[in-house]
Amino acid sequence: MRAVYLVKNGKADQAFEIRETENPQVGALEIRIKVEAFGLNFADVMARLGMYPDAPEKPGILGYDVIGHVDALGPDVSSELKEGDRVIALTRFGGYAEYVSTDFRGVVPIGDHVGAAKGTALATQGGTAYYMAREMVNIYTGDHVLVHAAAGGVGSLLCQMAKANGAVVYGTAGSDKKLEYLSSIGVHHPINYRTDDFAKVIQKHIDQTESNGLDVIFDPIGGNSVRKGFKLLGSGGRLVLFGASSMTSAKNVFSKLNVARGFGIYHPVSLISPSKALIGVNMLRIADHRPDTLHRVMLGTVDLFNKEVIKPLSGGEYPVEELNLAHAALENRQTMGKIAIRW
Ligand SMILES: NC(=O)c1ccc[n+]([C@@H]2O[C@H](COP(=O)([O-])OP(=O)(O)OC[C@H]3O[C@@H](n4cnc5c(N)ncnc54)[C@H](OP(=O)(O)O)[C@@H]3O)[C@@H](O)[C@H]2O)c1
Repeated sequence: MRAVYLVKNGKADQAFEIRETENPQVGALEIRIKVEAFGLNFADVMARLGMYPDAPEKPGILGYDVIGHVDALGPDVSSELKEGDRVIALTRFGGYAEYVSTDFRGVVPIGDHVGAAKGTALATQGGTAYYMAREMVNIYTGDHVLVHAAAGGVGSLLCQMAKANGAVVYGTAGSDKKLEYLSSIGVHHPINYRTDDFAKVIQKHIDQTESNGLDVIFDPIGGNSVRKGFKLLGSGGRLVLFGASSMTSAKNVFSKLNVARGFGIYHPVSLISPSKALIGVNMLRIADHRPDTLHRVMLGTVDLFNKEVIKPLSGGEYPVEELNLAHAALENRQTMGKIAIRW
């Protein structure tokens, strides 16, 4: 089979090589998938830049999610899936390939009509959003919820899930086009963080409405935005941290230290008195140590999609030869929604 290897950290046009390699074996609890397309994730950009500790060693095959057809099932797999079924899957790397094997609990059926970008978005971005918004926190009618990178893959689905639960949604994004999209999906308060300080905008709202503060924040940015967010939380508020994309803009060790300092320091006691919670989420750890949770989350995500509660945004499909262009676009914040790469 062919696979795309990450051979070098750095710029997208020098980082990848398509190579011939053996098809992956099928482990006892694994399903092997013939891949139609694989999805891109922001973590892939961080891996390419050498900023992702969990990434496979070079030369290695990245890739968290694929859409394709079941090719083979391991002997201990207990699943209704059979050879030829169309599926989406969360892969523990190895997704940038024509075939990939992955734990059967990360594989769920998907309809033939579902496009590659939307399908792969359901696996990683959808699963992550569902786990955070449906399992790690509860969102109730009237709750005030802030979503950062709201026009992105995970962010847009978080907005939709929060809205479906009746929340008042604030979403930050970095361009007018992204803000227009946020309005189109019903985000009540789209905020362009490049022109407005999100914390000031929201604080003004809190003051004007004499509300308790934010109930839930979803933050993949890290650094300063966490410290600012923590202050905006009301009693009972929860801040869910699931990334540190601001690290990618920090070009030297001093700016990295600045980002790290920006998070703030929280003694556990400082959470008790104001009754606030900080929650960290890493879906790799969930996939590794709670495969049954992952399975429940993926089935729940596809169910929300089938019921049209969530509509993942397609950021387009690129042929594998243009992977470098797609990677650079994701790194440079030019994308909206999920990008899929077709074989
Ligand atoms: N913890 C987990 O298990 C998990 C799982 C999946 C994803 N994630 C994290 O969730 C976030 C979203 O992932 P995604 O794949 O759905 O990507 P995405 O949101 O579609 O793309 C990233 C977006 O983040 C925003 N951004 C803010 N600061 C940035 C920076 N310094 N550099 C680049 N982009 C920046 C940009 O939007 P604006 O133009 O609006 O700023 C950009 O378009 C990422 O941080 C990712 O690492 C975490």
